Amino acid sequence: MVRETRLASEDLIYPLFVCPGSDVAEAVESMPGVSRCSVDRVLDICVDVTSEGIPAVLLFGLPESKDAIGSTSWSDDGIVQRALRAIKAAVPELVLIADVCFCEYTDHGHCGVIEDGEVSNDKTLENLALQAVSLARAGADVIAPSDMMDGRVGRIRQALDDSGLESTPILSYAAKFASAFYGPFRDAADSTPAFGDRRSYQMDPANGREALREAALDVLEGADLLMVKPALPYLDVVREVRRRFELPLVAYQVSGEYSMLRAAAANGWLDYERVLMESLIAIRRAGADLIITYGARDAARLLDSGWTE
Ligand code: PBG
Repeated sequence: MVRETRLASEDLIYPLFVCPGSDVAEAVESMPGVSRCSVDRVLDICVDVTSEGIPAVLLFGLPESKDAIGSTSWSDDGIVQRALRAIKAAVPELVLIADVCFCEYTDHGHCGVIEDGEVSNDKTLENLALQAVSLARAGADVIAPSDMMDGRVGRIRQALDDSGLESTPILSYAAKFASAFYGPFRDAADSTPAFGDRRSYQMDPANGREALREAALDVLEGADLLMVKPALPYLDVVREVRRRFELPLVAYQVSGEYSMLRAAAANGWLDYERVLMESLIAIRRAGADLIITYGARDAARLLDSGWTE
């Protein structure tokens, strides 16, 4: 009765990796319980996720082919576009959030266009606009740019508005840190940079005040929801963003956070269910309204069976 913080399945967002083919469900070794799935199998998962009370999924694509600029990411027939159309038709009540970035689509694995060995911020903005409009047209309810280029929220907002998509909201990865916790995701999404790192566009883990500046810029540019990522190592940032901004706040419990729990549990060192639920309630306590987590379905199942710990 006096519990201050609650967790419900409606607070959770489940990430999915869509790959080519049919009847494919390829396990991601470093993320037990997570698979890359073809559109037909993703569809089955979306039906189940909806019946489990999870309101939204976040879609990542593994394209058939890659090039220097990631052009398949804005193809009408792209892998995520195909998934969006299929899911929208079959499960219209499920909220479809499309990740917008290029690292899964470029042959060098960086999140944008390379010029003189570096990611060109402004050239990338133009392609982000193309990708965002293509995904929204294919059925994305929410556009979630994770690239971390400066000015992207404003550019995407303008492109959506110019295309008659003014009611499509933007969930901005406002404070996305250059984190080693993304390691397993890069296995899953085949998006490890071929050279260098992402520190020219993602944030220094030491900078909490800069995270607030990034969030403030995104709010001015028209973001509708804000995100802090990763979650558990950055709870101070979650708290501070919650305190300073009125927008809905999302925290992303990233691949490495999930894999740590799974790996320790596989060794018999931690109880997976208990540490999952404890970390999710901690993220809510810090101030997140919504949590993106690979453990969303496990948590929904536990909550449904009356979990009270
Ligand atoms: C794409 C992107 C990444 C993640 C989400 N979108 C990887 C990265 O920036 O390298 C990581 C998610 C996770 O680790 O679960 N830029």
